Amino acid sequence: MTFLHLTSDAQPLAIPDHMPVDVDLGSGEGEFLLSYGAQRANRFVVGIEIRRALVNQTNERAIQSGIQDHVVALYANLNHDLPLILPEGRADSVWMQFPDPWFKRRHQKRRALANRLGETVFHLLQPGGWFFFQSDVFELALEAMADMEAHPVFRNDRGPWTFLRHNPLPVPTRRERYCLEKRIRIWRLSYHRIDGPS
Ligand SMILES: C[S@@+](CC[C@H](N)C(=O)[O-])C[C@H]1O[C@@H](n2cnc3c(N)ncnc32)[C@H](O)[C@@H]1O
Repeated sequence: MTFLHLTSDAQPLAIPDHMPVDVDLGSGEGEFLLSYGAQRANRFVVGIEIRRALVNQTNERAIQSGIQDHVVALYANLNHDLPLILPEGRADSVWMQFPDPWFKRRHQKRRALANRLGETVFHLLQPGGWFFFQSDVFELALEAMADMEAHPVFRNDRGPWTFLRHNPLPVPTRRERYCLEKRIRIWRLSYHRIDGPS
């Protein structure tokens, strides 16, 4: 039964018709979400996060900054809840930044990197939309790349099986800042959905 999988108070999100939508999968403390959203008043920015305390904290800070009309964190499990929350093919951009590096089998149910990442992104993204992924764990990045390369509607912006060197987003995430400070290598992927109009 589907509802057994629900970890969230998931319900369809009301998104203004005219606004482009960005989705950040695993938004953590929401630092990136809030900084990016503060710079992009014309975009609807959604963070998906499985830790409720972080979701509440992010939404409180969005209210304090007066950006809650277009920046929202949702308490949800990205492996199960997305079809209930976000309309199919509505997002202009989907990002997964530094998913948890949990490899052990017992953790797999909660790991952010779903086995079928390509399908998750395909559900969310509109034709022509952009998917960006970054991680400092090479195995995770490679796993993500294999999944995206195998999906027929996505084209790697750098060429097949090629990583992206720089982050095109205007602000770094918390984990990204840590990696940059410690000179830890970051593996980045950039794909566009190429079926239909762009
Ligand atoms: C390593 S943190 C990275 C946070 C942020 N993106 C950054 O780059 O600083 C990964 C985040 O993904 C969240 N997460 C893990 N599994 C998830 C899932 N299945 N659904 C939603 N969020 C998940 C974790 O709770 C955590 O906040």
